[in-house]
Amino acid sequence: MKKKMKLKKSTVGLLIVMLIFISLLTGCGNNEGGSANVSDMPTVGIVQIVEHPSLDTIRESILTQLAEEGFVDGETMVVDYQNAQNEQANLKTICQKFASNNYDLIIAISTPAAQAALGETTEIPIIFSAVTDPVLAELVTNLDSPGGNITGTSDAVSAEMIMDLAREITPNIKTIGALYNSSEINSVSVIEDLKEYAKANGLEVVEAPVMNSSEVKQSATFLAGKTDAVFAPIDNTVASTMPIISQTLNDAGIPFYVGADSMVNDGGLATYGINYTILGKETGKMAAQVLNGTDPGTIPVMTIKDVKIYINEKTADKIGVTFPQAVLDNAIVLGEE
Ligand code: TRP
Repeated sequence: MKKKMKLKKSTVGLLIVMLIFISLLTGCGNNEGGSANVSDMPTVGIVQIVEHPSLDTIRESILTQLAEEGFVDGETMVVDYQNAQNEQANLKTICQKFASNNYDLIIAISTPAAQAALGETTEIPIIFSAVTDPVLAELVTNLDSPGGNITGTSDAVSAEMIMDLAREITPNIKTIGALYNSSEINSVSVIEDLKEYAKANGLEVVEAPVMNSSEVKQSATFLAGKTDAVFAPIDNTVASTMPIISQTLNDAGIPFYVGADSMVNDGGLATYGINYTILGKETGKMAAQVLNGTDPGTIPVMTIKDVKIYINEKTADKIGVTFPQAVLDNAIVLGEE
């Protein structure tokens, strides 16, 4: 009796092992509902410098667009999403891993992420998203024909337009504070433009650059005591610490002009900015093109140019500013509860 049972067990075991082996060989093991086998799906690494509302909006919009084009995360495509918590060292580790895993595509959201990705591979296609100045960041030398393994979308902003708006809302600006992370080339590019604008318009720029997010409060406090208004470009370090900065500046009654709609939503006073859902959609289209076989180097960099005025009325109330009617007529109001 005992012997019989033993024999049966081992026969069943052998059968199971054989079945697993056959299903692995034919690739029909996990194939529910006719979707592709995991090993056949394109693999996509997404790297983001830090989580803040603007970059999160971009990532969600990219994934929505990819899904519309048939690349659905977990069904027809495998996505490995990593955020670097605003640490350069983390960016390097993440991109090294993406490169050694030999993913089919890397999507890099923000300038620092794109620079890190290109630093690790000149083979795997890279689509960058929301890079303010792709040439200054040394990602491409020519926006129209990038060449190499990289292309993407740009969110170039105009310091001049934002400053014209600032002076329309608060005309008595003589000194303007510049709050940014000096290691973010995307910010350095815009601050250069701010300095040129200031020179041409008789304003004085007071700079308080930071190296990381732990320094922003001190810089904001310093600028609050020294300037008539503060300007922050589309800086990832500032964007991810907006609540603390806007509270410091709003408490001091200092108008705070920023580079992106999400920063207005987080307590900034106003901006002239682009729509990041549209930027994400365009990035997603490029990613789909590359997954379908197009060489990224042949796709021109796309700069989103359509800008709108965004204002925060709650911030205006707090600091005692009234928006001119001409601004109100053209603005999108953010920061409402
Ligand atoms: N343009 C930034 C970069 O090049 C990234 C970015 C997109 C951003 N939207 C933003 C930064 C909003 C701050 C706020 O890295």
